[in-house]
Order: sequence, then C-alpha cells, then structure tokens
Amino acid sequence: MKVGILGAGRVGIITGIALFERGHEVTLVDIDGDRVRRLRDGRMPYYEPGADDALRQASQSPRWAATDDARELADCEAVMIAVPTPSGPDGDYELEALAQAVSALARVRRGERVAWRGVFLRSTVLPGTTEHLWDSVGAPCPVGYLPEFLREGTALADARQPDRVVVGAASEELYGLARDLFGDGVEYFETDIRSAELIKTVNNALLSTCISFANEIARLSEIAGADTADVFAAMHLDRRLRGSPPPGIAEYLRPGPGFGGSCLRKDLTALAFFAMSRDQQSPLLEAALHINATQPDWFVDRIEDALGTLAGRRVLVLGLAFKPGTDDSRESVALPILQGLARRGATTGVHDPRATAVADPALLTALNTEVVGDDELEAAFDAASAVILVTPWPTYLEMLPVLLAGRRTPLLFADSRGSLRDASLAPEVTYIGIGGDVRKGGRR
Ligand SMILES: NC(=O)c1ccc[n+]([C@@H]2O[C@H](COP(=O)([O-])OP(=O)(O)OC[C@H]3O[C@@H](n4cnc5c(N)ncnc54)[C@H](O)[C@@H]3O)[C@@H](O)[C@H]2O)c1
Repeated sequence: MKVGILGAGRVGIITGIALFERGHEVTLVDIDGDRVRRLRDGRMPYYEPGADDALRQASQSPRWAATDDARELADCEAVMIAVPTPSGPDGDYELEALAQAVSALARVRRGERVAWRGVFLRSTVLPGTTEHLWDSVGAPCPVGYLPEFLREGTALADARQPDRVVVGAASEELYGLARDLFGDGVEYFETDIRSAELIKTVNNALLSTCISFANEIARLSEIAGADTADVFAAMHLDRRLRGSPPPGIAEYLRPGPGFGGSCLRKDLTALAFFAMSRDQQSPLLEAALHINATQPDWFVDRIEDALGTLAGRRVLVLGLAFKPGTDDSRESVALPILQGLARRGATTGVHDPRATAVADPALLTALNTEVVGDDELEAAFDAASAVILVTPWPTYLEMLPVLLAGRRTPLLFADSRGSLRDASLAPEVTYIGIGGDVRKGGRR
C-alpha cells in the first residue's frame, strides 16, 4: 500500500521505517527542506539506536521517498499526520503545526484526485481535537486517530512490534485500513476517536503519576530514616506490579530526579488543562506535576547540604539527554539541575555521549555550563568536587565504578537514580542517592 506521513520527526520517521519494513511504499513529507534532503540520502536527523542502518536500507529502495510537497501524497491510500503539538502557555497543546498540516491536506484534496481511504492523526491531542480540526477544513475524507506509544531509545523495536495498535475511528473502513497498515501479529484495540485521543494522554499521565508517587515516597522514606532502595525493591516483588514479563509498571515506580522528555509533562499538563477548562478538578494530576517540578531542586538541596555550600564548587553533571539511548534533551531534568546548581553558585560542566553535540547552543549558553568532550571526561571527573549522575548511560555505569573506587581526593557522588548504589567506593568518596541514601567509602 502507498502510505504518506506528514511530519518527519521522531514519530514520523520511525513509523515510516516500520511501515516500509512491512512492505508498504512510504512517502515522508516535512516542511524542513534540510531534513527532507537528509532523509532522501538515508541520513538520520537525530540519534535513535538502529535507525541509521534501517533508514539507509529504506532510502535505497524505490518504495521510499521524502519531499516537502504535500501534493506527493495524493496517490497514497493512507495518510498519517505526526507533526509537533508542543505545550502552550496555558498547558493546552499548541495546534498550529497540526492545523497547518490539516489545511495542507485539504488543499491537496481540492487540487488533485486523491486515492485516500483515510487520514489518521498520530500527534498527541486532547479529546475532540481530531474531529474539530477535520470539520474545520470540510472533512475531505474519513479521519481517525491512531495514537503512538513508542519510547525514544527503543523506538524502532516499539514500532516494529507494538504492544497494541489503538484505532480511534467511526467506520469499519478505517479499522480495516489500520489492519491493512499494520498487518497480522499485532493486537488491535478499536474504539471511537475521542476515546483513542484520551487513551494516549491518560497512558502518559499514569506513567508520570507513578514516577511522582515514587518520588513522594522517597521523600517520606528519607524522613522516616528507612532504606529507600529496600522499600522500593520490596514493593517491586508484588506480582500485581511486576507485570508479565517484568518489570511492568514497577519500572515507573522508582525514585529519581523527576521525569523529563518531550511528552510526559506535556501530556499531564494538557490533561489537567482539559479538566480545568471543563470546571473539573484534577488534584492528583496537579500533585504529580508539583512533585515533579520540585524534585530536581529537592535533589540539588541534598547535594548542597552534603557539601556545606555549592558556591565556588566545581560540579560535573553526567547526562543531558532525558534518558539513555537518545540525543533528545527536551525537558530533561538535567536542565533544572544545572540551573539549580548555577543559582547556588556552582561552576558546572556537562557531558553526554550524544545530546550535547546536538543541543541548542543558546540553551547551553543560558545554562552557563561548559560542555565536556569525551576526551576531557576523566580530567573533568578528577577536577570536580561533586559529580552528579543524571542520565544512566551504559558508558557511565561501566566507567564510574572504576573511577569511584580509585578516587584519591574528596568527592561527593550524587546518584540521582540509585544506579551505582552497590559500587565499591574509595574512602574519599561520599555517596548520596535518592531518599536519604548516604554513605562514605567502602562497600554497602
Ligand atoms: N517523541 C516521542 O517519543 C513521541 C511519542 C508518542 C507521541 N508523540 C507525539 O507525536 C507528535 C510528533 O512528535 P515528534 O517527537 O515526532 O516531533 P518532532 O519535533 O521530532 O518532529 C516533528 C516534525 O514535524 C515537522 N513539521 C512541523 N510542522 C509541519 C507541517 N505543517 N507539515 C509537515 N511537517 C511539519 C517538523 O519539521 C519536524 O520534522 C507530537 O504530538 C508528540 O507529542 C511523540
């Protein structure tokens, strides 16, 4: 089948590759000409494990095309829209790019004979948005909502073998079109459009609420003088939380510096906005947001307490990406941590295996931090009074046990996710984790 995707970003490209690998003919459309050229040449515009090779292979095939002209979608049977819906000033999604994309399709429909059996929105939106936008351009063909659940870092595997394909539609034809797209061996969940829109946002709201729950419990655990890691380890033994296969929801019931990334806070905020705009209270969502907004500073306070003062101290932050396996630093907790350190007078340096190289230079300048290159990392570690592990990239987890065991001058090591809790420490090293987990030197 010929499939068109409007918006060649983190969702659009990966969806395109997965559909190409299922045998479809894929055309990607993006307004960014530079991105289109890269995609034609088979060069990924961002880092996602495995995607470089998969894209290179796809781009050598006549079944793969990239363009900035939406008219090239006219002969596609299925069209998807995966443009950004960033957070607006009130917490609602900004729909500008989506409205432009929908209008572009309406113009194609007016000017050309189209083969479209249906259009699916994939961008995350609030209930009612798909039908509203579609009606505003005269509903040129059937429309449905097909939420995307991929996780950056494992996006290709998620798209190749999704847990489920939720299809929001109002006709059997569109459910059939979704089945033709994704084929057999996939679990389909068919529902109406508004429910599908809500399912996507609610899914992320649940994950982020779990993280905030874990962080609130870590704060209580610290006050109680309990062993926070043991509290969570025992919680994860509950079969109802472990899932099959593990870790299930337990993966999100772990304390840390708070959640980041382009989706979780945005979706939680939009859902709270949705409730508020309909005179409904959403105290749980508000609390989850509040805990998350205060968690990075809460952690930096622990570091300041342990050091006495941060003023004039040199602090190395390990990780800028919002999680390992991506170069995406949108809404990463490293950002408020770096800001909190600077506010307290620390001099900071930040290293990331992927994200610093592609981060907006203006953002790094605003953070008043120095980027540490791969070849400078050990020297920066030696020169720092404190090192904070923010993004647990595998390379840090390999390198740090050696450096922490061999350290000869005083160091505060702040482990924001408890990843190196069991590492053996030189006597000069003080370890702090989340939730009152503190020790000096030795083995646990
Ligand atoms: N990133 C994720 O992990 C993820 C997961 C699930 C859902 N989503 C949702 O998917 C949507 C897209 O997110 P993303 O991370 O892929 O965004 P992105 O910023 O990576 O990419 C969006 C692309 O759309 C292009 N674009 C903007 N306006 C356009 C237009 N009018 N016509 C054609 N192209 C246009 C941009 O140039 C960009 O290349 C958002 O609503 C997001 O919330 C994202």
